[in-house]
Amino acid sequence: MLTLGIETSCDETSVAVVRDGRQVLSNVILSQAIHGKYGGVVPELASRAHLKTIIPIYRQALSEAQVTLGDIDLVAATMGPGLVGPLLVGLTFAKALAWVAGLPWVAVNHIEGHIAANLLQHSDLKAHHLTLVVSGGHTMLVLVKEFGEYEILGQTKDDAAGEAFDKVAKLLGLGYPGGAELDRLAQSGDADYVHFPRAVMKQPGYQFSYSGLKTAVVLHIKKLGSEDVEKHRADIAASFQEAAVAVLVEKTMRAAAATDVKDVTLSGGVAANSRLRELMQRRLQDTGRRLFYPSRQLCTDNAAMIAAAGYFRYRKEGASESVVNAEPYLPLVPVQSLENPR
Ligand code: KG4
Ligand code: ZN
Repeated sequence: MLTLGIETSCDETSVAVVRDGRQVLSNVILSQAIHGKYGGVVPELASRAHLKTIIPIYRQALSEAQVTLGDIDLVAATMGPGLVGPLLVGLTFAKALAWVAGLPWVAVNHIEGHIAANLLQHSDLKAHHLTLVVSGGHTMLVLVKEFGEYEILGQTKDDAAGEAFDKVAKLLGLGYPGGAELDRLAQSGDADYVHFPRAVMKQPGYQFSYSGLKTAVVLHIKKLGSEDVEKHRADIAASFQEAAVAVLVEKTMRAAAATDVKDVTLSGGVAANSRLRELMQRRLQDTGRRLFYPSRQLCTDNAAMIAAAGYFRYRKEGASESVVNAEPYLPLVPVQSLENPR
C-alpha cells in the first residue's frame, strides 16, 4: 500500500511516498529560508511559501519514488498542531488530491508523526514503549501502549526544549533555528565551564521547565561581556546543552523504571542532538533497556513520518471525514487527566 504524506505545519514543505508505513520511496523536504532574517517563523510568509512550492514538491516526490498518482492508495496530511495558515495549505491540497483521484485520505497529528518516525525505521521496536518527544514546540514523556494509544506522563511547564536551544543559539549569534548549529559548536566546548541550573530535576513527576535555564544563560552572557562571550561561545553552548540534556535523560530514566518498559525512543527535532543520544544511550544501556531514534533527516519535520502515522491510523480507524479541518492546538491525547501522574 502506497501512502502519499504531506507536511506543512510550520516552515518545512514536505511530500513523501511511503510503502506499507515502513519503506520510504521518497521524502522531499524544503526548509523555508525566508524566516532566517526574522529570527523566527513568520506565519503569513510561511503560508505563502507553502502555496508556491507544494505542487512542485508533490511532483518531485512522485518522480523520485518513480510512481504516478494512479499508484497511490492513501493520502495523509498533518492537521495539527501547528500554524493554521500553513496547515490549511497542506490539508486543502491533500483533500483536493484525494477527491480528484478518488482516494481515501487521513488527517494526522504532527506529534504522532514524530513518534511514528521510529516505527518507520525500527521494525523491532516494541509496540509498547516510552517516547521522549522533544521538538521546537513540544517536550513531553509519553507512554505508547500501542500505536495510537498514548498516556502523557509529563510535559514542559513553559518553553519547549527546542525553543530553548533556538533561543540560546540566537544569543550566541548562530542562525535560526540554531539547535543543530549549537550541537556542533558544543562539541568543541567544555560542558563544565558553567554549571547552569537543572530545573525541576529533583522534583518528583515528569514535568520539564526551560525558561529558568534560558534566563540563566542570558544573565551569564551579560555578566561576561562581549569579548569573553566570543572566547567562550563553545563552552557556553556545551554547558547549556549539558543542563538541558541532563534533565531530559534523568526524567526519562525515572519514567522508564516506573512504567517498566524495555524500549525507549526519542522523537522530534531535538532527537537529532548528539549529546542527548549519547547520554541517553549510555544510561539506558546500564539498565538493560534499548534506545531507538530516527535518522537525523527523519527527526526534524518531514512528510515520511506523516505518511507512516497516516498509514497506521488508517489501518486502525479508516479514512477521515471530509469535514475534518486544521486544528492549531490539536492535543496528542483528547482530554487526558494529568491529575493522577504515576
Ligand atoms: O520537530 P521539529 O522539526 O519541529 C517542531 O515540530 O517543532 O523540531 C525543530 C527543533 C528546532 O528547535 C531545532 O533547533 C531543533 O529541533 N533541533 C536540534 C537539533 N536539530 C534540530 N536541537 C538540538 N540539537 C540538534 N542537533
Ligand atoms: Zn515537528
